Amino acid sequence: MSDNAILRSVIKGTGSALPRTRVSNAELSKRVDTTDEWIVERTGIHFRHIAEDDETTSSLATEAAQKAMDAAGLVSSDIDLIVLATATPDQTFPATATIVQDRLGCNGCVAFDVAAVCSGFLYALSVADSMIRTGAAKHALVIGAETFSRILDWEDRATCVLFGDGAGAIVLSAEFGDKGILGTRLHADGAHNQLLYVDGGAGTTGTVGKLRMKGREVFRHAVVNLASVLREVLEESGQSIDSIDWLIPHQANARILDATAKKLGMPAEKVIKTVDVHANTSAASVPLALDTAVRDHRIKRDDLLVLEAMGGGFTWGASVIRY
Ligand code: UT7
Repeated sequence: MSDNAILRSVIKGTGSALPRTRVSNAELSKRVDTTDEWIVERTGIHFRHIAEDDETTSSLATEAAQKAMDAAGLVSSDIDLIVLATATPDQTFPATATIVQDRLGCNGCVAFDVAAVCSGFLYALSVADSMIRTGAAKHALVIGAETFSRILDWEDRATCVLFGDGAGAIVLSAEFGDKGILGTRLHADGAHNQLLYVDGGAGTTGTVGKLRMKGREVFRHAVVNLASVLREVLEESGQSIDSIDWLIPHQANARILDATAKKLGMPAEKVIKTVDVHANTSAASVPLALDTAVRDHRIKRDDLLVLEAMGGGFTWGASVIRY
């Protein structure tokens, strides 16, 4: 079959949003027993944005989604699917996607949340792509949005310095041709639940809980799982490591980004890095990094992109996209 006969999900626009307040490591070290040197050396993080009281997962998501729609040249009535990845919804229910839907004025279309923590955007992307390719949707908003600052234990210096808040969004549209999502691979392994989790929940403690992580062990799994899923997805989509123009990884730690690129034999210049200024924004990190590199003109039409992420669950995944 020629490429012109294949229906694909094409990225038509990207957008992102960050809370107003940016916090440096030096500012953080006034309230937490840490130093700028430790954070930079172990993680590559210099800044993170932290939501004020009036900033929520839905408000950040709405701003990012509106920018993505504007970039795609679409209006609210064009959108027929909203998939929002988050581990920090505004409320336990309704889905934050429905709050965003109402704010955007896309009322009536399909809207729901996906919970896969830091891999959430990859999971959301895969669900939207499947719905587009089966004809269930034509123009989908895929959003990753988080306010992790609200589930951090600010007494735990081993975790609270690592995360930030933000949102990223894309518009995916159904188009025939050789552009779009060429392949996606997702995985989960619940055996590692206790290495990265929140110690509360609506159905157990009745509270939201705080994030708990055994960082060193997560780090070890992340490098192995990411390198392996990247090889899988490249094979599935018939692409080689050399053909990748940009790797857009989940921004957890600059050392994980470097180690994964090295394991694959990829030059560091092809890796989009925003962990220095955004820190780890969980499901928002991949679309935030993507939007940053689209808007600063590094990513150009026809470039081959690889998106990847790994997080709580464990969950992990990767997607190959002709932009
Ligand atoms: O997004 C989901 C996926 N998440 C990740 O991928 C995170 C993966 N893990 C990591 O990024 C790293 O493991 C961390 C950045 C979390 C930690 O780096 P590390 O090199 O593994 O450090 P460590 O946890 O082994 O801690 C080393 C030392 C400890 O002191 P001792 O026991 O050696 O005396 C910690 O108490 O660093 C100490 N430490 C700190 N010191 C200053 C831990 N946190 C801090 C801190 N400031 N904020």
